[in-house]
This record gives sequence, structure tokens and C-alpha cells, in this order.
Amino acid sequence: MGLDVRNGYQGDIPFSKYPDFSQQGYQVIQELGRNSEAGRTTYLAQALKTDQRVVIKEFRFANAIPDLSGLKAYEREIQILQQLNHSRIPRYVDAFETSAGFYMLQEYKNAPSLGLKRNFEPEEVKQIAISILEILIYLQQQVDPIIHRDIKPENLLVDEQLNAYLVDFGLAQHKGAKMTLSSLAAGTPGFMPPEEHFGYPLTEASDLYSLGATLICLLTRTRSGDINKLIDAKYRLNFQQKLSPQISPYFKAWLMKMVAQKRQHRYANAAVALAALKPIAVISNDTGLETLFAAVKSRRKSFVFGLATIGTLAIAGKIFMIAQSAAINKQVLEASESQNLKPNFHRLDKNRH
Ligand SMILES: Nc1ncnc2c1ncn2[C@@H]1O[C@H](COP(=O)(O)OP(=O)(O)OP(=O)(O)O)[C@@H](O)[C@H]1O
Ligand SMILES: [Mg+2]
Repeated sequence: MGLDVRNGYQGDIPFSKYPDFSQQGYQVIQELGRNSEAGRTTYLAQALKTDQRVVIKEFRFANAIPDLSGLKAYEREIQILQQLNHSRIPRYVDAFETSAGFYMLQEYKNAPSLGLKRNFEPEEVKQIAISILEILIYLQQQVDPIIHRDIKPENLLVDEQLNAYLVDFGLAQHKGAKMTLSSLAAGTPGFMPPEEHFGYPLTEASDLYSLGATLICLLTRTRSGDINKLIDAKYRLNFQQKLSPQISPYFKAWLMKMVAQKRQHRYANAAVALAALKPIAVISNDTGLETLFAAVKSRRKSFVFGLATIGTLAIAGKIFMIAQSAAINKQVLEASESQNLKPNFHRLDKNRH
């Protein structure tokens, strides 16, 4: 074998900057993510015998502090992944230990994450939203519903056909689980629902907030690290002005309801949010009537005025439009009202990447 000189390393032993898992039967291909603070690195690896691709998540022992329930972060993640059986959630494969740490193996989903710079048309964003809501419905239909707690662009992979995959169940918990000190407000600032800041019980609507924030990032072409730019002095996600004017007021109202500050003003769960989203036209076909509805924003007075005007139009033979539009009008009003509430929570420092 010839002399190999690479990266300043001399000798005939292959040099790799990645950990050596050959004893366990895997070879690392690339690093997928690193959270130095938390002592976690995620690798894409290949099984030496079968060529099967897996994701190896490394948890360094130095950082493995058990939470109050006595479980370490990786034990919780394994427990949850093992219970799940969905084609768009990675399956748990295996786990092993070395002197350096604990390693969890899961199925590799071959699709780029939404954390990468990718531009989607509004119609495509709706398709992605539907695909994610389907996964959330599955999680919420478990006997003890599961709340993911870290929905954000980096933890969602989307393929060419716009199928979404949900990864990183490191913070996931059952709805009924007690909040422990270490799990309190552990999500990602900007994507974390207000109730989590307070340590209030999380519900199915909590993941809807994070999904809404993610979709708003896609529509406004905001990188997740810049989501603060959309948060106003009252800690609300103030994105309306940043949306393309072609986005219909109905879709805007749906998004506003997803990220309402109070969880009781959001859709109750993913199934309700999906049913509301499906019939919505994402792009405004600007009949003039829609612009009128959009003008009906936060004041009941203008809402009544809007209805009266629509009533006049109905006399001109557009009765069918009234029923549909009044319902949407109400939705816009509700969403606006829920956005106007004054939350009194304090933002916590970023503790997750
Ligand atoms: N099963 C998978 N298939 C494909 N890619 C994955 C998979 N799991 C994770 N990834 C990619 O690796 C990245 C890091 O993994 P993961 O989010 O699980 O680790 P993490 O340590 O919790 O990271 P962070 O703290 O940054 O969220 C993800 O953002 C995603 O892009
Ligand atoms: Mg992650």
C-alpha cells in the first residue's frame, strides 16, 4: 500500500475526521448536525455489510444529565421513536455505547431540510403544510398523544414531491407528561409557543404554533435564525406585511390562527387545522370582494359594514358567495382578535439550536 499524505497525516492508516464505528459495522459518510453546547452530533453513516444508510446521533456522556424522571435525553427519544410507525417519521434502528458516549441509530430519510435555503411558491407551502399536519394527526391520535415540541425548519425534511418528514424527537413528550425542570421551555425561541415559556401544560395546539411559525418563515423567506425580525414588541409574530400581496386573506387568516398567542384561540388540533386549510385558496383571485374582506380586520364595526356590503352584492345575484365569505370574514376577525391579545410573558434566552 502506498504512502498516504492527507490533512497533514502520514501513514497507510486511512484518516478520517469522523469517529470510527467499524467495530459496530458502520462508516460515517458526513456530519448532518452539531450542537456543541448540548454535546450532540448527528452523522449520516452506511452499514458496512448491507450499504443501508442510517443516521447516528451521538450523545457525549459528559453532557448526559438525567432529567427529574431519571431518564436521559436519548432514553426519552428512543422510547418515543420505538412506539411510532409512520412512513414519514424515521424508524428506530439500534443503539450502542463506546467509552465516549451513547449512539442512537435511526432510519435515514433522504430529503433536504427546510433549514437550507429553499424557495417555495405559496401553493407549495400549502402542500407542505398538509403533509406536516398529516404527521401531527398521527402523533395526536396516539392513545396518549405525543407533542413534538421542536417543530422548526431544521427538523423538517421535504422531498421533491413535497412530502414532509419529521425528525428530532429529542424533546418529544406525551401530552400528559409532567414538565420537568430540564424540559421546561426547552424548544427553540421564536418557534416555541407562549404557553411553553410559562410552563403551562402543552396541548395539541402547541405544535400548531411552531408549525405556523415554520410556514411563515417559508412564505416570508425568513431564515429560522432571523425569526426574531418577525417578532414585535408585544412578542407576537407580526408577519402580515411581509407576505406577498398575492396571498389570499383566507390563507393569511389561517396562519394568524395557527400562531395565536393564546392556545385556545388556535385550532384545537392538527385534524381541525387540516380540515380548515384544505378548502382554502392560497392565492388571491382578487375579485375586489376579497380585498373588501381583507379590509375587515379587527373592528367589529367594519365587520358589520363588510357583511352589509356583501349583502348588497348578494342582491345582485351572488348569494352563494355570501355564505362562504361571511364564514371567512369571521375567521379573519377571530384571527385578528386573537393576535391583538396582550401576552405578558418574557422571552427566554436561546438554549437550543
Ligand atoms: N432521520 C433523519 N434522516 C435524515 N436527516 C436527519 C435525520 N435525523 C436528523 N437529520 C438531520 O440532522 C440534523 C440534526 O439532527 P437532530 O435534529 O436530530 O439533532 P439535534 O442534536 O437535536 O440537533 P439540534 O439541537 O440542532 O436540533 C437535523 O436537523 C436534520 O437535518
Ligand atoms: Mg434538531
